[in-house]
Amino acid sequence: MSTTNRDFPISARAERATVQPIGELMAKGAEKDIISLAAGLVDEETLPARQIAALFADFIRERGPKVLQYGVNEGLHSLRRKVLDRLASSDGPSARDVPLSRVMLSTGSQQMLYILTEIMVDPGDIVITAAPTYFVYLGTLQLAGARIVGIPADEDGMSIDALESAIDGIVKAGDGPRLKLVYVTTYFDNPSGVSLSVERRRQLLRVVQSSGAVHPLVIEDAAYRELSFGDADTPSIWSFDDHGANVAHLGTFSKPFSPGLRTGFAVLPRAIAEKASILKCSHDFGSANLTQHLIDYCIERGLYDSNVEVLRKTYAAKCALMCQCLERDMRGLALWRAPGGGLYVWVDMPGFNTGPSGDLFANCASEGVIYVPGQFSYPDPAAGPKSKMRLCFGPATASDIERGIGRLARAARRTPPSGGAR
Ligand SMILES: Cc1ncc(COP(=O)(O)O)c(C=O)c1O
Repeated sequence: MSTTNRDFPISARAERATVQPIGELMAKGAEKDIISLAAGLVDEETLPARQIAALFADFIRERGPKVLQYGVNEGLHSLRRKVLDRLASSDGPSARDVPLSRVMLSTGSQQMLYILTEIMVDPGDIVITAAPTYFVYLGTLQLAGARIVGIPADEDGMSIDALESAIDGIVKAGDGPRLKLVYVTTYFDNPSGVSLSVERRRQLLRVVQSSGAVHPLVIEDAAYRELSFGDADTPSIWSFDDHGANVAHLGTFSKPFSPGLRTGFAVLPRAIAEKASILKCSHDFGSANLTQHLIDYCIERGLYDSNVEVLRKTYAAKCALMCQCLERDMRGLALWRAPGGGLYVWVDMPGFNTGPSGDLFANCASEGVIYVPGQFSYPDPAAGPKSKMRLCFGPATASDIERGIGRLARAARRTPPSGGAR
């Protein structure tokens, strides 16, 4: 006799888990003859496979069998030290004084997002995000049963006025104690490509610190920090958090080096670090030791930094090409802003419905191109705009970008304007 999931008395938490629409998109993108401008993957040509093959034997010989042993729950000491040293060069020397006990490595930064949510959020608790925001994290929040409040964003990122009035509203409704997290991607956001301006970074922290009625943890997701096309870096929100009490700063080695190594890092307020360490122990008592050692070794050998330089040039060129193609093929049909880094161009097609069950999406699929419908990135898709899409130039070749945008334009020209969005 077969048993279906329905027959098991599964948890309320598992009941809240729904299939993420992006999974279907990824499967579609893998179909033959489809050009995927949807998948948020990195450029495969620049993954350091050849370089790692060349040093791997030396790496194993020098580090010894211990790299194949279990590692430390919080992560490899020398790599955590390097995280602080690198933060010191971007955010100021005081980063070096942060105790190592507040630095943790995780299985991608996604695991740390999950753990922090587990620490902070009970069902019904409130989490503030930008609208739009990183849609995988929206799934994590949904699983936790969070009430998500989306704050509009413009070319400087999340609106601080809107943040302030949302917090006011939450406090007036008596829900201050339930506001647990403010999640913000500070550099070259996924999906919008914008960075939170330095002024707003300061203001955001001030708003969170100055309201005695709420004490949310600010999660600063800096996943794309190193993928800047220009030379200037900007100080993180974390660098303004003088007492290290309000901000969890998350980064990753995925985007600037290799997502296959699945290693992220976080610098956390002390009390959060203590809990994160306990929870991490239940998750896996330490992320893969081998890959942490390998990243550590690649940083020491200079391979990591030289690779970042290559990536920045590669992505800058791909982004410029995508914007040129949009200019050539989509002028009059779409609006977009060239990002200063990251992997994404956020496109608005006024008058079109970009949703997964709309005509444009179907026509794009039949022309052989797919994108991420913008509505997936809004906490409340029904209330968000219907005319946005995320295009990723990460894994696409130059020819894919040229042909993909051409296909998108052909699909748009044969799509009747949708009543709703215009
Ligand atoms: C904004 C943002 N944060 C976090 C992640 C998670 O990355 P990883 O788990 O590979 O570090 C991603 C991945 O796409 C992302 O776009």
